Amino acid sequence: KKGNFEHFMQKEIHEQPDSLTMTMRGRLIRGEQKIKGVLLGGLKDHLKTIRRSRRIIFIGCGTSYNAALAARPIVEELSGVPVTMEIASDLIDRQGPIYREDTAIFVSQSGETADTLQALEYAKSNGALCVGITNTVGSAIARGTHCGVHINAGCEIGVASTKAYTSQIAVIIMLALALGDDSLSTQQRRNAIIDDLYNLPNKVRDVLKLDKDMKELAALLMEEQSLLVFGRGYNYATALECALKVKEVSLMHSEGILAGEMKHGPLALVDETLPIIVIATRDASSSKQQSVIQQLKARKGRLIVMCTEGDAESMCPDRTCRLIEVPQVQDCLQPIINIVPLQLLAYHLTVLRGFNVDQPRNLAKSVTTQ
Ligand code: UD1
Ligand code: F6R
Repeated sequence: KKGNFEHFMQKEIHEQPDSLTMTMRGRLIRGEQKIKGVLLGGLKDHLKTIRRSRRIIFIGCGTSYNAALAARPIVEELSGVPVTMEIASDLIDRQGPIYREDTAIFVSQSGETADTLQALEYAKSNGALCVGITNTVGSAIARGTHCGVHINAGCEIGVASTKAYTSQIAVIIMLALALGDDSLSTQQRRNAIIDDLYNLPNKVRDVLKLDKDMKELAALLMEEQSLLVFGRGYNYATALECALKVKEVSLMHSEGILAGEMKHGPLALVDETLPIIVIATRDASSSKQQSVIQQLKARKGRLIVMCTEGDAESMCPDRTCRLIEVPQVQDCLQPIINIVPLQLLAYHLTVLRGFNVDQPRNLAKSVTTQ
């Protein structure tokens, strides 16, 4: 079942051009007269209600939460509806307010996560419209929500979620496009995103070619105690998700940090020994990331910079950083490209450190207890 691959995680990382194709199949429309759009069959009768809701709340755990976080900015931009984020267990612990006018979107690969299910029951009893985004047809969350979208990424076996993450982001971006469908002023922006969605599987194929480089980088990092990952904007989620993958499979401490918070504490950790990944691909916040890189360098940080192809010179003029150069796509799609080399890094780190990639210690694929 693993084909030419040694592990399911490796297979699932390399499968992403195909899983993304499946996720988008039949859902992107490139019609006559350059009219482009998306069709999410499970949501088409509910889009009006979602557009009119007072707030959209994304609810999930772990990687599924991170996927919603990655797509949050484009949902805000194209829908104009305020978007908040909830980790399912925290929402339940606080019994946070949820109202009839809210749309609660539950993101879950398995569709069976106990915390997410409990949050679903809670939001339903408060009268919110409950939408599911899940990979598993017939799962508890697919059945329990009022409507939703199957991500169709195919069965995911590795405990660490990889292809489901990128497909979840793709679905939420398509949801944003569908919600913004009634606005003329965003049409150009939406068309550009749809064009890049069509090309996305090829771009993912390109970035998978970094496999060898990531193996080399893993060999350099394998003895480390800790790895920091700085991101912001669209790629704050990429930083969190990279750190989650690294810690859960390679058992190395890792922390994803919002770069805007650097001076509010994390900067104290920086010295010439601790490796730091900075995600600085081109978008509205990359000049801020450029200055983060300069400040980390001033403290002799050991930097690994992820930048857009061709930006190496401007991001690291003195060539003291290790670089991960990735192809550019529309800003909101960039998290899908950027996570791929970092998944490969987590995978190779784990193999080199001699741990079980597909079944990390103490973890289960589907967390059905609280
Ligand atoms: C559906 C079919 C697909 C078919 C396509 C043709 C299923 C599972 N999908 O896909 O095989 O090719 O029509 O038009 O039969 N739902 C929830 N909660 C969730 C996820 C989904 O309530 O968490 C509901 C949706 O609102 C919808 C149904 O499940 O009513 C199927 O969702 P989805 O598979 O995403 O719909 P289509 O893409 O239209
Ligand atoms: C990490 C991972 C977990 C899951 C989390 C939620 O690689 O897989 O963090 O994302 O347990 O699971 P689902 O998405 O099934 O609700």
